[in-house]
Amino acid sequence: MGVCYAWAMPTSSEDTIALLRRVPVFSTLSGEELEQVAQVAMPRRFDAGAVVFKEGDEGSTCYIVRSGRARAIREHPDGRSITLAHFDSGDIFGEMAMLDGERRSATVEATEATEAIAILSGDMHRLLREHPDISVKLIAALGQRLRDTNERLARQSFQTVQSRVAAALAQLVAAARASNEGGPEAGVLITATQAELAQLAGSSRESASRFLAVLERAGIITQGRGKLTVHDPEALGRYVY
Ligand code: CMP
Repeated sequence: MGVCYAWAMPTSSEDTIALLRRVPVFSTLSGEELEQVAQVAMPRRFDAGAVVFKEGDEGSTCYIVRSGRARAIREHPDGRSITLAHFDSGDIFGEMAMLDGERRSATVEATEATEAIAILSGDMHRLLREHPDISVKLIAALGQRLRDTNERLARQSFQTVQSRVAAALAQLVAAARASNEGGPEAGVLITATQAELAQLAGSSRESASRFLAVLERAGIITQGRGKLTVHDPEALGRYVY
């Protein structure tokens, strides 16, 4: 994980308005209101591997991803880490410290070159006061995150390691299909290392690797370097229980 390399990018306010329009939290704002938000939004760019902020940091700026991908992680002193969430284009992160005034609850790092806009806490609080509907949407978004987290907690408590790895892989297949990546003929291409998949499943890399070898022998997947192809998503789904 690298240090934070962030710098401002020249982007037009139309680009920012177009981005804000796609963010569910801002969906009820008029064009003029979006323009006002765009005026206080600061463009930021992070290299792949750069740390946006670390767990325990002070800071209350929230970010909206324009392009690229970032993830929230928690690290154990023994070196293990878990991924709490991924943030893609249109996703917000850093909203928790902004809302409760506490320190950062997790480290956020860019997993690929990522462009984002940063909105200072003061500006965001003013928006929330002036537009209560943004608060309602933000609460709904936080509720969805809690649901996702509960889902993962239940999975990690009740499912076997194999089932968790299969579920994590099935989730990536669903996401790839939703964004139309990979053709149906050739199978669904997933860009993830065994370590990333293990993190998503909350398993050790060794356990994930053993199970992926089982899937490969069964002809369900083919593994490559930092990627794998799922040929039979239905058969994969039968490992999730
Ligand atoms: P904040 O606490 O400011 O900094 C870390 C950010 O990671 C946090 O805000 C959220 O945006 C995000 N985050 C932390 N935990 C989760 C989670 N369980 N699900 C989704 N996002 C999270």
